[in-house]
Amino acid sequence: MIPIQTSLTQLLGIQTPIIAAAMAGASGGALASQVALAGGFGFVSAGYDSADFFKKEISIARNALHTAEDQTLRVGVGFLVWLLEKSPSKAEELISIALENRVQAVWLSFGEDIGRWVRYIREHDPRAGSKDAVKIFIQLSTVQELKVAITEWKADVIVVQGNEAGGHGLKSSLPLLTLFPLLANVASQLNGPPLLAAGGLATGSQVASLLTLGASGVVLGTRFLLSPESLYTDPHRKSLLAADSSLSVRTMAFDYARNTLGWPKGVDGRGLRNDTVDDYERGVDVNTVRERFAESARKGENNRSVVWAGSGVGLMSEILPAKDIITELHTECLQHLQSGAQLIAESQSNRL
Ligand SMILES: Cc1cc2nc3c(=O)[nH]c(=O)nc-3n(C[C@H](O)[C@H](O)[C@H](O)COP(=O)(O)O)c2cc1C
Repeated sequence: MIPIQTSLTQLLGIQTPIIAAAMAGASGGALASQVALAGGFGFVSAGYDSADFFKKEISIARNALHTAEDQTLRVGVGFLVWLLEKSPSKAEELISIALENRVQAVWLSFGEDIGRWVRYIREHDPRAGSKDAVKIFIQLSTVQELKVAITEWKADVIVVQGNEAGGHGLKSSLPLLTLFPLLANVASQLNGPPLLAAGGLATGSQVASLLTLGASGVVLGTRFLLSPESLYTDPHRKSLLAADSSLSVRTMAFDYARNTLGWPKGVDGRGLRNDTVDDYERGVDVNTVRERFAESARKGENNRSVVWAGSGVGLMSEILPAKDIITELHTECLQHLQSGAQLIAESQSNRL
């Protein structure tokens, strides 16, 4: 692989600026490690699961990457901050598992007081102050959050999440093509860290366009759900493959149905429209939505379950191993960057 070098690849020592997102319920040790083996970087989500489940996923990554206990584990860990805030003792346990395992990065998002956890992680990182200190990624969608993340929390990497993103996000977030340049301008005035772009990405040409806009890397979530390594089930993958982009909608229906309420104000989730969303939008009583959701899960049906998906889902037509997804995106991105460079060379030679 011809590497693509950016400030992000230098910071993490990786070959391609393509990151597999932290995805609660979907990104575990197998996905994150395969992405790392392909030259990218991936996150194990601590999500909604137990500490034992999280430990198991970390050890899957450790084994796949043949990492000794005293070496940096070349994956990150994603935390939903509102869940940390809900149960600080569990939060401390999960964070200590991540830090003891010397993970290379931590990803924080969706909380009222993210700064508290940034400080907590830095204070408890045994590598703090060294070049191997854990790198803190913050995902956000507004100028206001960006300023705080740069000036107060001194984030190591910022992920700019556009409205197209699968899973949870700010309901009022702007589309990525507008949001990214807006935030990039502010970040450059503040001398900010590497900025990554997330939301709706599916192809190498999109990756090339974001790098051209000044992104130091890109984050994809939904695309990696369509890999055998994600924790999604085969029926969920089938629904994603069958979906066109108009089925990707922002909604609170699933959080009501499965009772995962507690997200910060203004946050909802983007997933595939199905009977749960239709009932919710029709104003069906929440208890009934919940009962129907639980009943259909018991029966193993697929017409009410949660399948998070970004608006790029209609551009995805294949289940591929995570490594192949990285290679395909990287190769296609390089081709697009090279044709851009060729266009410039030709324009210059025509002028001579
Ligand atoms: C199944 C799924 C779960 C997600 N879980 C999280 C999460 O736990 N924390 C988070 O910050 N973002 C989460 N996200 C959002 C991703 O971090 C990322 O912004 C998004 O996947 C990018 O858009 P895309 O899915 O269109 O590629 C999730 C996304 C998906 C698809």
